[in-house]
Amino acid sequence: MTVADADELVELVRATRALAEHLRDSGATGVAPDAAARAPALDAARPRDLDAAPPPETVGPSSRATPEERAQRLSLLAAEIVGCTRCALAEGRTQTVFARGNPAAEICFVGEGPGADEDAEGLPFVGKAGQLLDRMIAAMGYAADDVYICNIVKCRPPGNRKPEPDELTACLPYLHEQLSLVAPKVIVALGATAAHGLFGAPVSITRARGSWRLYRGRIPVMPTFHPAYLLRQPDAKREVWRDLQEVMQRLGKPR
Ligand code: URA
Repeated sequence: MTVADADELVELVRATRALAEHLRDSGATGVAPDAAARAPALDAARPRDLDAAPPPETVGPSSRATPEERAQRLSLLAAEIVGCTRCALAEGRTQTVFARGNPAAEICFVGEGPGADEDAEGLPFVGKAGQLLDRMIAAMGYAADDVYICNIVKCRPPGNRKPEPDELTACLPYLHEQLSLVAPKVIVALGATAAHGLFGAPVSITRARGSWRLYRGRIPVMPTFHPAYLLRQPDAKREVWRDLQEVMQRLGKPR
């Protein structure tokens, strides 16, 4: 299957899922309740081989929107999420946490979900783990405003526990829309939950880290350890730095 064929197939699957979801949500009869869920996973329709991905400089937003339009649509999405009650996390949050950074960034860091500091400030990665992430980003040669940072779930899980599968499922459409608007050339998945959300299946981060995979057959993802893990296991910083150097090389930045 060529990349063009795969793209077409994915668009077809996406349209089928959207139609099934729309019909189900609008109460249409004659639609199996799980029709949307039974449509093949988008990721499964794509070649897994990174070599089949278009080179980073040709990866762009699926729509032809200008950067200003995309930034505006991201603001609208953030505003929509403020009132979200799709899962139980809505009950415990102080506020939703959407993103920080540059909505036209070439690189996007995806974490797990807000902690106490992020819940209080309304911005991702502003606590201790975030400070370490900022140092890693600076070491890569980026300013804080060069990159885009967001999470798999937009509300703080109580006690900083991992998001439950139903919470991931409820929140993921927001992330998919967010990423299709930012259209980064590369995504860094910070930890197992981020990789799970992006790839659509549970991931052993110890095994997955350091190897490129594709998000929706389109955007190269480098899975690596979460900065909070590095605060507990500083020796693992060496591996993360190796992963980030791979990312820099792919983006043509000096190592
Ligand atoms: N950990 C995350 O995964 N995300 C944040 O925003 C903060 C800590």
